[in-house]
Amino acid sequence: MEETGFAIAIMAAGKGTRLKSKRPKVLHEIGGQALLLHVIAAARKVVPADRIYCIVGHEADRVKAAVEPTGVRFVMQEEQRGTGHALRMVKAYFAITGTAVPKHLLVLSGDVPLIRPETITAICDLHLAEHAAMTILTAVPTDPTGYGRVLRLRDDGPEVTAIVEQKSLQPEQLSAPEINSGIYCFETQQLFNKLDLLSTDNAHGEYYLTDVAAMLVADGKRVVAVKADSVDEVLGANTIAEMMHLDAAMRLATARRLMAQGVTIFRPETCVIDAQVTIGADTVIEPYVQLLGTTHIGSESRVRSYSVVQNTILGDRVLVRNGCILDSAEVSNDAVLGPYAHLRPESRIGEGAHVGNFVETKKVTLGKGSKANHLNYLGDAIIGDGVNIGAGAITCNYDGINKHLTTIGDGVFIGSDSTLVAPVTIQTGSYVAAGSCITEDVPAGALALGRSRQVTKPGWADAKSAARKE
Ligand code: UD1
Ligand code: CA
Repeated sequence: MEETGFAIAIMAAGKGTRLKSKRPKVLHEIGGQALLLHVIAAARKVVPADRIYCIVGHEADRVKAAVEPTGVRFVMQEEQRGTGHALRMVKAYFAITGTAVPKHLLVLSGDVPLIRPETITAICDLHLAEHAAMTILTAVPTDPTGYGRVLRLRDDGPEVTAIVEQKSLQPEQLSAPEINSGIYCFETQQLFNKLDLLSTDNAHGEYYLTDVAAMLVADGKRVVAVKADSVDEVLGANTIAEMMHLDAAMRLATARRLMAQGVTIFRPETCVIDAQVTIGADTVIEPYVQLLGTTHIGSESRVRSYSVVQNTILGDRVLVRNGCILDSAEVSNDAVLGPYAHLRPESRIGEGAHVGNFVETKKVTLGKGSKANHLNYLGDAIIGDGVNIGAGAITCNYDGINKHLTTIGDGVFIGSDSTLVAPVTIQTGSYVAAGSCITEDVPAGALALGRSRQVTKPGWADAKSAARKE
């Protein structure tokens, strides 16, 4: 068989029984992204996607659909009989498809999501330098319980004698501090030679990949361990609590990265900021803010407490007051939102525009300097520059079957509590009187009154009370 450099296998077929969740473990999210996507992203920085073999099994279709766009290859493990069995499937895949066996195989776990590309490269380099058959990435966490333990030949040397799973630890080994991260580099052929010899004679009745270490040592092969620089980077996510620990660690790292770029984040531990979010210098994020998905915020903006901003672009010097919910919106420079504004998808807010208290927008373009400050619903509308939308005015965009468009020209004044029944056009510079129900187009420069005349009955109240007294 022909051999070529390095390839990466990612074990992602397990069910994640300890989560007690219907969702496959590797699709649970931290930092706003599935565990497996974090691992694939790191792997892709080391080798091209077509040299990444993702082992799937439990809910394979769902897992594949979620990560398909990354371009990785999939290896099926129909029955999940352990990590050793998972690698057997890779061996079979190479044989069946006639794929050249790579000289070295790096193995990652789909549930160890904080691994960095630099660390992957470092273990590959060490593996080559040590001429090892197997190189194991390890760490010494405060509590090693639950992890497999790496036993070294000598305290001060890299050589390993075995990896022992938690349930197989002898009483005197229980305090062994160094854990197996589930990340390894193998000389592929050495690994493949041992896979068929693994047994299920252990506490879980599974084929343990970890048993390969002692088997190689017994053959006189070199098995070495290298400690990761940071413990968090190699922690597993077997329970929701462990995942949330990693989520917090990852978000804090994101907040630190942003702060290093000149962003002020008050009480960063209270903010939920996804990994992909970008923010310009001198922007201030107040406590208890959520910035999610592909949100981008420009410079010198401010997002006040309790706002949730998702997949939204905010320009420079934008002020988002307290309690706003922004979803897939675009907000230009110097705009002011909230408190309690709700911008739904396709809301485009112009430069210096204001969207205020309890205003909901959807599929709306609001022009430069226009204002909708109090209690409005603006849906399916194109609104020009310098427009003033009075308190309580709304677009009636839906007739029960279809959505219709409201068009409002530049400089229009919409009086308070007006209802604009779409489709309707209100042309440039016109006025709509307060309390109007507008069902017909309004020409430029006109005043439209869509309400009945007020009737005033002088002395009516006095007459009424006099009548009551009689
Ligand atoms: C494994 C290691 C343990 C290590 C720990 C680090 C073994 C036997 N033990 O334990 O030494 O300290 O990781 O996090 O390997 N998977 C498959 N197919 C299977 C079984 C598992 O693809 O048949 C995948 C899982 O989806 C998961 C990964 O392999 O992504 C590890 O499996 P898991 O069951 O979580 O192993 P641990 O008990 O954590
Ligand atoms: Ca695990």
